[in-house]
Amino acid sequence: MITSIRLVNFKNFADETLRVGPFTVIVGTNASGKSNIRDAFRFLHGIGRGYTLAEIIGGKYGAGGQSEWEPIRGAADEIIRFGQSAFVLQIKMNDFEYLIEVSGSDEASPGLFRVTREELKHRQWWRIYTSHPGRYDPVNAQNDDTHLLLRMDKTGAQRRLGHKIAVRPDQPALTQLREHRRIVKAHKELAEQAIEAFANMRFLDLVPDRMRQPAFPGQTVLGDGGENLPTVLREICDDPKRKDILADWIRELTPMDVRDFEFPTDPTSGRVQLVFKEANNRRVSAYGASDGTLRFLAMLAALLGTNPAGLYFFEEIDNGIHPVRLNLLMDLIERQTAKNGTQVLTTTHAPTLLTVMNDNTFENTSVVCRLEDTSEAIIRPVAELPNVQELRRDQGLGRLHESGWMEDALFFTENYDEAEDGS
Ligand SMILES: Nc1ncnc2c1ncn2[C@@H]1O[C@H](COP(=O)(O)OP(=O)(O)O)[C@@H](O)[C@H]1O
Ligand SMILES: [Mg+2]
Repeated sequence: MITSIRLVNFKNFADETLRVGPFTVIVGTNASGKSNIRDAFRFLHGIGRGYTLAEIIGGKYGAGGQSEWEPIRGAADEIIRFGQSAFVLQIKMNDFEYLIEVSGSDEASPGLFRVTREELKHRQWWRIYTSHPGRYDPVNAQNDDTHLLLRMDKTGAQRRLGHKIAVRPDQPALTQLREHRRIVKAHKELAEQAIEAFANMRFLDLVPDRMRQPAFPGQTVLGDGGENLPTVLREICDDPKRKDILADWIRELTPMDVRDFEFPTDPTSGRVQLVFKEANNRRVSAYGASDGTLRFLAMLAALLGTNPAGLYFFEEIDNGIHPVRLNLLMDLIERQTAKNGTQVLTTTHAPTLLTVMNDNTFENTSVVCRLEDTSEAIIRPVAELPNVQELRRDQGLGRLHESGWMEDALFFTENYDEAEDGS
C-alpha cells in the first residue's frame, strides 16, 4: 500500500506531500493542481510499465502507430515546474521507499531527460540501491551524462559491501536491474515487487461511448476508457456470490433503472453486448443507457471484478453521477478498499461526497490550493485545518467546501505560519 507521495518541482508543486490512504480524496478549485497529482502517479505507473523517460513523458506508440501510452499532460515542456531544471518524486509504501530525480534538457539537447538520482529502500532490508552521480567512480569521469552509477547495498542475507554498477540514465534504474548479471537475486526480487506496485495502477477516464461497445469474450479487464464493460460485468454475474453483491448495489438505484443484465452475443462478430433489464422489465441496450448509469456501472465493475488493480485513480468521480448514486459509490469504495487492500484515489468537486464520507476517508482527504498570485500550489490534509472537526460535526464538510472555507482557512494558516517563522 502506498502511504504518501512527495512532489518536488513537479508541475505546480515546489515541495508538497500528499497523504495517501486506502481511499484518498483530493479537492480544490479548478486549476489548483489536482490532475497534476494524477500525472505524478501516471509517471510512476509508466516506470512500472518499463518505459524510458522519453516514453513516459512523451507517449509511446505501437508498431502500427497506435497509441500504447498517452503522454503526460503538457509533455516535455511542462513536467518540470517552470523555472526549475529537475523534479523529484518520492513515494512511500508499507515496505518500500522509492525516490527518483529527473533532470530536464539543457539548451544543447532539448527534450532529453536524464535520471540524476534514484534510490530504493526496503523497510526490513534497508537500502537496495542508491545512485552516486560521479562521486564513487574516479575512473569513469563521464558518468554524469552517459551513466548513472548505482551502489547496490549489502543485503541482509549477504552482509557484503555494496558493489557499483552503471545503468543508462534515460530510463529509471529500477527497470534496468533485471538485465544486470552482477545483481543478487534478492535485490532483483525486491525491485520486481516495487515495479509490480507501480505497474498495478489503473487510471480510469471513462468514455461512455467506449463502454457501449460490445466486447470480445475473454476480455475481462476493464479498459481505462471503460472498454470491455459487457464482458467484465458478465464475468461478475457468472459468480453467484459476486452477482448478488452487484445486484444489491444496483437495487439501490432509483426506480425505472437497471435491475438485471443480459449478455447476448452478436452472431456475426461473436462479440458480447450489454443489455439492461429495467424495473418495468423493459430491455435497453447499452447504446440507449445514460452516460451516468454506464459510468456508475464501470466503477462498480472495476471494484467488484476479478483481479482488481492495486490502485485506481478516478478522475472527477462525480462527473455525470447523481448525488444519490455518488453516495452509494462512496460507500462501496470505502468498504472495498477497507476489505481487499485496493487503493482508490479520486479528485472531486462534489460537496455531497465530502458530507457522506466516513472518518477514515476524512483523514485521507486533502485540499490542493494555489497560493495567491502564483501558480504554485500546496497540499494539506483537511483534517489538519483549524477547528475542522467541530465545523465538520456542526455544518458538514460539504457545506464548508462549498463556501470556500477550506481555501480561506488554508490561506490564513499559511500566512500565520509564515509570520511566526519570521519572528
Ligand atoms: N510546469 C508547471 N509549472 C508550474 N505550473 C504548472 C506547470 N504545469 C502546469 N501548471 C499549472 O497547473 C495548472 C493545472 O493544474 P491541474 O492539475 O490540471 O488542475 P485541476 O486541479 O483543475 O485538476 C495550470 O493551470 C498551471 O497553472
Ligand atoms: Mg483536473
